[in-house]
Amino acid sequence: MTAEPAPTVRDLLAFYLEAGVDCALGDEPIDRLSAPDQPVVTLAPEGSPPAAARQPLKPTVATAPRADIAPPPDIAIESAREAARTAPTLEALRTLLDSFDGCALKFTASRLVFADGNPQARLMFVGEAPGRDEDIEGLPFVGRSGQLLNRMIAAIGLKRSDVYIANVIPWRPPGNRTPTPQETQICLPFIKRQIELVNPDVIVTLGNPSTQTLLRVREGIMKTRGKWFDYDTGTRTVRAMATFHPAYLLRSPAYKRMSWLDLRAIAKALEQSAAAPRQA
Ligand code: URA
Repeated sequence: MTAEPAPTVRDLLAFYLEAGVDCALGDEPIDRLSAPDQPVVTLAPEGSPPAAARQPLKPTVATAPRADIAPPPDIAIESAREAARTAPTLEALRTLLDSFDGCALKFTASRLVFADGNPQARLMFVGEAPGRDEDIEGLPFVGRSGQLLNRMIAAIGLKRSDVYIANVIPWRPPGNRTPTPQETQICLPFIKRQIELVNPDVIVTLGNPSTQTLLRVREGIMKTRGKWFDYDTGTRTVRAMATFHPAYLLRSPAYKRMSWLDLRAIAKALEQSAAAPRQA
C-alpha cells in the first residue's frame, strides 16, 4: 500500500478556509491535541538569564483571557442585564460592553463592533453578528452585505449617516459560525438597551436570527418579513418590521423585489411617524 502524500501548505490552508477558519487567534500555534491537562512548564534554554530577569513572553491565546474562563451562562446573562440596565448613555453602554467578559465571543473576536450611524436616528437596523470585514473595521455592515444595505437605505431616500445600525451580537463569532442561543441571550440585554437609548421610531430586523430574537417570533423570515410588529423598548412601543438580510439577498437576488416592498412600507411608516409628535 502506498502512503498518501503529505498535504501541502496550500491544501491545509484550503481545508482550514473551508472549515471556516480564516483568521489566526494568536501569534504562536498551540497543538491542542498533544497539550497535557497540566500547564506546561517551559524550561529555559541553557545559558539563558534567570527567570526573574527574563522578559515576559507576549501573551498568546493560551495565556490571554480565554473563552473557557467566561462565567457560566446564567451568571453572564444576569450580569449583562445588570450592566446594560445601568448604562445611562450609548457611550456608557459601549464602555460597559467593551469591559464585559461574560461572552466567550469577545475573546476570539479582534474587537467590539458596537454600532454605526446616527444615535438620534428615527430608523434603526439590527443584524445578527459582525463578519470578517466588520471585525477588522470595528463597524457593523461594512462588507459586501453592508454595501447592499447602504443601497437599500438609499432606495428610501436616506443615507447611512441618517440611520443607526447595530447587531444583536457585537463580536464576530469565529469563522462566522452561528452564535449559540446562550451567546445570544448573554448579548441580548445590551442590544435591547441600545434600542432603548436610540429610541427610534421604526426598527428593522435584518434576517431570521435578529427577527426571532428581538421580535420573539418562531416563524422563519419568509413568513415574518413585511409584517409589522410592536416592539416594546421599555419606555414605549415602536413599530418593527423584519426584512431579508442583505447577505441573503446577495445569494438570492430574486427576493430583492420583496425587500423593495418592505422598504416602501418602512419609508411610509417613517413619514407617518414624522407627522406625529415624537414620544420621549
Ligand atoms: N452581517 C450581520 O448580520 N451584521 C454585520 O455587521 C455584517 C454582516
